[in-house]
Amino acid sequence: MIEQDSEIVFNKRVAADTFFLGLRSPRIVAEAKPGQFVMLRVGRGMDPLLRRPFSICGVRDDDLVLILYRVVGRGTTIMCDVRGGESLSVLGPLGSGFEMPHKGEKPILVAGGMGIAPLIFLASTIEPGSFRFLAGFGSGEEIVATDEVGLSGIDLSISTDDGSAGHRGLVTELLENRLAGFNGNINPVVFACGPLEMLKGVAAMTANKDVQCQVSLEASMACGLGACQGCAIRRSSEQAIAYYHVCQDGPVFDVNALDWERL
Ligand SMILES: Cc1cc2nc3c(=O)[nH]c(=O)nc-3n(C[C@H](O)[C@H](O)[C@H](O)COP(=O)(O)OP(=O)(O)OC[C@H]3O[C@@H](n4cnc5c(N)ncnc54)[C@H](O)[C@@H]3O)c2cc1C
Ligand code: FES
Repeated sequence: MIEQDSEIVFNKRVAADTFFLGLRSPRIVAEAKPGQFVMLRVGRGMDPLLRRPFSICGVRDDDLVLILYRVVGRGTTIMCDVRGGESLSVLGPLGSGFEMPHKGEKPILVAGGMGIAPLIFLASTIEPGSFRFLAGFGSGEEIVATDEVGLSGIDLSISTDDGSAGHRGLVTELLENRLAGFNGNINPVVFACGPLEMLKGVAAMTANKDVQCQVSLEASMACGLGACQGCAIRRSSEQAIAYYHVCQDGPVFDVNALDWERL
């Protein structure tokens, strides 16, 4: 794990309230795996005090760490004003990554909103043409063009809640259609990241069934290092230790490892 001040190379708007940030850190690039995240001190000083967690969306040219983020509150509002040439303090890479798909499996990547960020990194490491990418957004203006964030030539299906682009409805409906099309010869393996309600929908289709699935969870995080207990969530089984820490044990989990009733 590395803590350092990293130069901002770019910080540009790519969709409504959505920005793409390039940070120079060859050391983090050398260690980063899809599914891991970094904790960023979003301002130039100590305010806000707490770092904010962001998935690693990709790496570029052996020295750039890429972050895709939506402006939702105080920290991200400060962050979108940071300019190229300035620097931010970065801690990472943190957490576990995705277990990569095996030969003979058909990966289906399912993203809701900014859940697309870690899946873009994952997609960039899988053989092009071997996977399907399903991405859901609130409306067309929120859609992130994947070629703008370094991922081109992929098989992408879009859904929007308001029907302004792609399928009108939930991205989980696209997943349901995909899974229905599989026969016994090919094993679908699902990788999902997005809002909790979306992940619950994915879990309902995959948990305790013949479909492998890994989900990347979000949780409130103060330290990102397993020290504050802020990100504890329920394990599925009744054991002496009933909790996982999303920051250390995750953020990627097997869908069967979690207690979905109590998340
Ligand atoms: C492992 C991990 C990876 C993440 N990756 C990304 C990413 O790649 N891109 C991205 O845009 N965001 C990502 N997030 C969410 C991001 O950390 C929050 O959006 C950010 O911390 C908000 O900071 P803020 O100061 O702007 O908002 P705040 O002022 O702290 O909060 C504003 C609003 O955002 C909500 N919010 C804050 N934190 C979260 C959270 N963790 N999950 C859901 N809602 C939250 C609050 O409930 C509140 O309604 C990730 C979170 C985790 C835990
Ligand atoms: S964020 Fe502190 S323990 Fe996970």
